[in-house]
Amino acid sequence: MNLKGRSFLKLMDYSPEEILYLVDLAADLKDKKKRGIAHDTLRGRNIVLIFEKTSTRTRCSFETAAFDLGMNVTYLDPSCSQIGKKESIADTARVLGRMYDGIEYRGYGQEIVEDLARYAGVPVWNGLTNEFHPTQMLADMLTLREHLGEIRGIKFVYMGDARYNMGNSLMITCGKLGLDFVACTDPAFFPDQKLVDYAKSEAARSGGSITLTSDVDAACTGADVIYTDVWVSMGEPEEAWAERISALKPYQVRRECFDKANERAIFMHCLPAFHDLNTTIGKQVYEKFGMSEIEVTDEVFEGPRSVVFDEAENRMHTIKAVMKATLE
Ligand code: CP
Ligand code: NVA
Repeated sequence: MNLKGRSFLKLMDYSPEEILYLVDLAADLKDKKKRGIAHDTLRGRNIVLIFEKTSTRTRCSFETAAFDLGMNVTYLDPSCSQIGKKESIADTARVLGRMYDGIEYRGYGQEIVEDLARYAGVPVWNGLTNEFHPTQMLADMLTLREHLGEIRGIKFVYMGDARYNMGNSLMITCGKLGLDFVACTDPAFFPDQKLVDYAKSEAARSGGSITLTSDVDAACTGADVIYTDVWVSMGEPEEAWAERISALKPYQVRRECFDKANERAIFMHCLPAFHDLNTTIGKQVYEKFGMSEIEVTDEVFEGPRSVVFDEAENRMHTIKAVMKATLE
């Protein structure tokens, strides 16, 4: 498998074999790290991280993974660079491509990261856009394989806002890798029909399936994974909360969702999550709408089925795999 020089912008650009290769490479790098085996094979290389939206996991994963690989890192936030305000993406890409071996971008429209990749001349990695979150997908597949022993044939239920970066990306990943994907939400929050058609065509090839439903009981029956994400994403207006809470309340992940799920079922969330009142936004939502837990109850989040911190750790191992595979 040779992925050298490729960008990692969305899962649609990668074959199932290439995706599984990256998951396997991440598992190998994780094992090396746990056993203290050095893997700094990219010594002397430089990468730059552009974050137009905030981050904990993605930024820290890129940084620590780069350090382990022996690379040097520059972090750019929107307030300290010329990007967008004084310099176009095409010009920025051509400047950074002269100095760095790879570029990570987190921000708004998918077209921005696609543009960066078009002009940079070095691999560009998508650290999240409105439409897609591809590095998260690799971490999620590695995590569910660690816990359930397999990827193909898993019944994967996604509850909540299924028409944004996480819902879109998970549907496509599951379609490609042969999982039975169910988006369980209000129809207004189903993914875009074009993406659904694409995921269905991939599922037809892989032996997976794509289902859209609003029936929580039917969705959760026989589930192996129940997954959710925040109901209002970064960059969306605060006013969206009222609409989201009224539409998505029935799709909160709570203990009863697991009553009909498989014995081995796990709970997953890309994080950050609103499961208690220990965040500013969580408190504001509680004061305004009376909901003290939002997309997932604290009981599920903290319960024995929850693998969310394994998932967070795996962001680092999988991002490392992406950088190694595309740079080396
Ligand atoms: N899951 C994820 O992307 O987390 P951050 O927003 O903290 O990077
Ligand atoms: N949908 C969320 C994902 C965060 C990792 C957001 O875009 O804010």
